[in-house]
Amino acid sequence: MRLIGHRGARAEAPENTLAGFRHLRALGVRAVELDIHLSADGELVVIHDAELSRTTSGHGLVRAHTAAALATLDACHQPTHARYDFAPWPLHEGVPTLAQVLMELTDFAHIELELKVQDEADERAVVAALPAYWQQFALAGRARCTSFNPRLLYQLQQHAPSLPRGFLAEEDFAGDIVQVALALGCNAIGPQAKLLTAELVAQAHAADLWVSTWTVNDAAQAQALAAMGVDGLITDVPSAARNWLA
Ligand code: G3P
Ligand code: CA
Repeated sequence: MRLIGHRGARAEAPENTLAGFRHLRALGVRAVELDIHLSADGELVVIHDAELSRTTSGHGLVRAHTAAALATLDACHQPTHARYDFAPWPLHEGVPTLAQVLMELTDFAHIELELKVQDEADERAVVAALPAYWQQFALAGRARCTSFNPRLLYQLQQHAPSLPRGFLAEEDFAGDIVQVALALGCNAIGPQAKLLTAELVAQAHAADLWVSTWTVNDAAQAQALAAMGVDGLITDVPSAARNWLA
């Protein structure tokens, strides 16, 4: 089973920052999940929320700021740090572009790019932009697009079918996640951990779907999921999680 750092290493370093991805590397973990939005000038940028104030020194929508303006913010002193048990981060960094992040992740073996975009025109822009990243950063065999948004996954299926994709579902998802994923030509599913059963994992594997689950921050849950045969565990606490699976 692969251990995957959530937004880098969310409980140990500022989420979705170059600093966080470097922290993950220093732990020896080469698998990561990160989140993507679109800037005002059409750049793919790495940040979780559509709005800036939870994780940066800025305010307002990510979509209303150019990539250059986002780069001037501080994404390493996130108001949410207080939730986590790590010291104030010593460095300041802006919101990174996806290109900057992928330059940092050249030695990563598994990258889940979660596409957060919800607007239809923006979805088309993201789908048009992604294949060039696959080329430029040699992502084949080591990266996958994931999304909760079936319309976006459908756009990928239509216009960038060679890009691997995974369908994400929250715990209240009432449909058949495997059937939805197959209809969208996905090769993975990403159910929230509470949705998972050994039967669902077996059903996914019978359909050749990889199963990553999130967000797993305690040992007992990790071990139960491992026993079900889950392929990837997305965690905020990779330092501790390495020991649970050893
Ligand atoms: O990969 C799925 C997981 O990251 C979804 O949750 O809210 O952390 O993006 P969220
Ligand atoms: Ca995510």
